[in-house]
Amino acid sequence: MTSSSESIQFSNSDKEDSFEQPLIKKAVKEIDKEEPGQIKMEIECDNLTQNQKVQQVQQNNQFYEKAKNYENGQLLQQEKDILTAKDYYNQQQMNTFTGRKISRLYYLRNFQNWVKAVLINEYSTAVRQNFTDKRNLLNVFELGCGKGGDMQKWSKAGTGLWFGIDISSESLKEAERRHKTQKEDRKKQIQKIYLMETKADSDSTLFRSRLPQDVYFDFVSMQFMANLLFSSEQAVENMFENITCRLTNQGIVLMTITDANVIVKKMREFSVKDTDGNYIYSKNQYCSLKFESLQFPKNKPFGQQYLFYLEESVGIKEGNQIKYVPEYLIELQAFEEKAKEYNLEIVENLNFIDFFEKYKQKHSDLLKIMVKPPSDDWKMPMDQWEIAHLYRVVILRHLKGQAQSKIRRHPHLNELPDCALELENE
Ligand SMILES: C[S@@+](CC[C@H](N)C(=O)[O-])C[C@H]1O[C@@H](n2cnc3c(N)ncnc32)[C@H](O)[C@@H]1O
Repeated sequence: MTSSSESIQFSNSDKEDSFEQPLIKKAVKEIDKEEPGQIKMEIECDNLTQNQKVQQVQQNNQFYEKAKNYENGQLLQQEKDILTAKDYYNQQQMNTFTGRKISRLYYLRNFQNWVKAVLINEYSTAVRQNFTDKRNLLNVFELGCGKGGDMQKWSKAGTGLWFGIDISSESLKEAERRHKTQKEDRKKQIQKIYLMETKADSDSTLFRSRLPQDVYFDFVSMQFMANLLFSSEQAVENMFENITCRLTNQGIVLMTITDANVIVKKMREFSVKDTDGNYIYSKNQYCSLKFESLQFPKNKPFGQQYLFYLEESVGIKEGNQIKYVPEYLIELQAFEEKAKEYNLEIVENLNFIDFFEKYKQKHSDLLKIMVKPPSDDWKMPMDQWEIAHLYRVVILRHLKGQAQSKIRRHPHLNELPDCALELENE
C-alpha cells in the first residue's frame, strides 16, 4: 500500500477500551414507544451470536444517544447544531454556473474537480486499453452521485451506462435535468443513465434486489461521500458488499475521502475547547471541525463521529451559528483490512497534496483548463490549500467477480430505458 501518512494514534486508556460493558448498561432502559425522546430496548442475549449482540447493542446505543438529546419530545440545544446528511443535501441550494464562478472557494472546487477528472481519465484509459473490442463503452456505478456533477467527466471518458444512486431526491432530480441538457447540447454523451434514491450502506440483499438484473460495472465511483458512511462496522460491511456485488473482476473503485490522519493531527495541535467541552477547530475561515473527544479507542475503528462544516458544501452557517453535518473518521488500516475481506486491493492511497505532486506535470493542461490559475507561478490561497489537505484519494481493484469480456454494455442493454429516475416515494 502506498500511504503518505501514519495511521491514527489510538489511545489505550481503560475507559475507551472497555467497549461492551457501558454500552449494555446504557441500553437496558425500557420504554414502549419507538419515537425520538423515548427509548425502546430489549436484548434477547441468549439466542443471539456474539456478533449479533454487539451489533444490537450498538444500534440500541445509537438510539439511546439520539433519544437522550430529547426531553418531552423537544430537541435539546445540544443537537440543534447538527443536520442529517439527507436533510442537508435535500435542502442545499442548487448552485448555478454563475454561482460557481463567484464562489469564495473557487480554486478549491476547481482543484477538487481536477482531482476527480485525473482519476477518471487515468483509470478509464487503463481499463479501456484492456477491452478486446476498443469500441466498447464503460459501465459506471456512482454511489452518492449528488447532482451528477461528474457525469460529463465520465461521458468524456467513453461511458455508455452511468448508474447513480443518492439519498437526496432533490439532487437526483437535478442530475436528471443536467443529463437532459447535456444531451441536447453535446455530441459525446452517456447513452443511458439510471438514477435511484437509496442508501449506499443499506442492507445488501435489499440493495441488490433493486439493481437491474445482470448488469455489471467496470467502475464504482464514490466521491466525497464514504466518510458519511463509516458510522458502524455493519454500515461499512454493507457499503463494501454493495460496492462489490456488481463490480467486474479487475473492476476499479475510485474514492475521494477525508483524511483521518490529517484531521486528527490538526485537531490535536490546534483545536480549542468550547463551553460544552467539545474540541473545535476554527482556524480556517471556510471550515470548522468539532469532536466530542480526541481519544480514539484501538478496538473501535468504525463509528468515530465528528461534525464538519465546509462553506458551500457541507453544513450551514447563519451568522456565528454553524449547523454541522456528522461524518466519520476512516481509519486506514481498518479500511484496508475490511476491503481485503471483500476482495479489494489498494492500488493508490494518497493525500490530495501528494496526488497533486504526482500528477501535476502529466495533467498540467487539464490543470490549466480546470483550476484556471491566474499565472504560472500562482499558488492556491493558503486556507483553500489547507482544506485540500484534508482529503485523500483511495483506489481499489476488485480481484473477483464477472469477467470484463462477459459483461453486457450499450447497445446490448435494450431492457434499460435511456433515462430513468426511481424515487422512493413515487
Ligand atoms: C459531499 S456530496 C458529494 C456529491 C458528489 N459525489 C460530488 O463529488 O460532488 C455527498 C453526497 O452523498 C450523498 N449521501 C450521503 N449519505 C448517503 C448514503 N448513505 N447513501 C447514498 N448517498 C449518500 C449526499 O446526498 C450527497 O449527494
